[in-house]
Amino acid sequence: MALLNLDNISVSYGSIKALKDVSMHVNEGDIVSLIGANGAGKSTLLKAIVGLEPLVNGTISYDGNIIATNVTSKSLPTEKIARNGIALVPEGRRVFADMSVEENLDMGAFMVRDENLIKQKKEEMYEFFPILGARRKQKTRSLSGGEQQMMAIARALMSSPRMILLDEPGLGLAPLIIQDIFEKIAYINQSENVTVFLVEQNARMALKASTEGYVMENGRIVLSGSSKDLLNNDSVQSAYLGA
Ligand SMILES: Nc1ncnc2c1ncn2[C@@H]1O[C@H](COP(=O)(O)OP(=O)(O)O)[C@@H](O)[C@H]1O
Ligand SMILES: [Mg+2]
Repeated sequence: MALLNLDNISVSYGSIKALKDVSMHVNEGDIVSLIGANGAGKSTLLKAIVGLEPLVNGTISYDGNIIATNVTSKSLPTEKIARNGIALVPEGRRVFADMSVEENLDMGAFMVRDENLIKQKKEEMYEFFPILGARRKQKTRSLSGGEQQMMAIARALMSSPRMILLDEPGLGLAPLIIQDIFEKIAYINQSENVTVFLVEQNARMALKASTEGYVMENGRIVLSGSSKDLLNNDSVQSAYLGA
């Protein structure tokens, strides 16, 4: 059984159909990517998963339980979904620029009551991302884009999620920095057994970092398969890999 299952979901903004009958799944322990151009509907999909956009039709299940359905036109509240172990790293990072790195990490632990656990998680994050440890007292605005992205990921990990949703972690970053971040994501997936759902415009990087992939165009899934097969697929190559 998949950890996350989207069954025939649609989402609209007024008359704009942003997602059209999308079905997909993410198995526990995997890194799964969703690639697609700007405006394809990727962020809308992540927002639907965490209960920020209602479904017009379809069902989203997580760990065997329905978390969103059109039947009641309701999703679980976003905080409840977070408590169930799904953490979203939003597009554009959304860091608190005037807060220190440490304060940002504390915000990520807002659901955690155990102060010792918070301390322990922070130390763990500083081990994963040594640059954050070195800059823990600095204001976030003084960090580079790549460092801010690492901090946004670390902040999401503070709640010890079972699954993280990453919305274009590579956006606006240089290829070497993206590679560095994706290596960290792979390490976290392995060492912490965190399931990763990675949404990216950067198709090559995302497919290289994942085992399974989906391709979205105009709100629909048009292709799916092993990331390796997608990297070798002619239409993926011509549309997304510049080949
Ligand atoms: N809040 C909104 N109101 C109206 N239209 C929106 C809103 N958010 C996104 N859209 C539209 O929905 C479509 C999908 O957007 P989005 O999910 O942000 O795509 P992506 O993340 O793949 O770039 C686009 O046509 C976009 O203009
Ligand atoms: Mg987006």
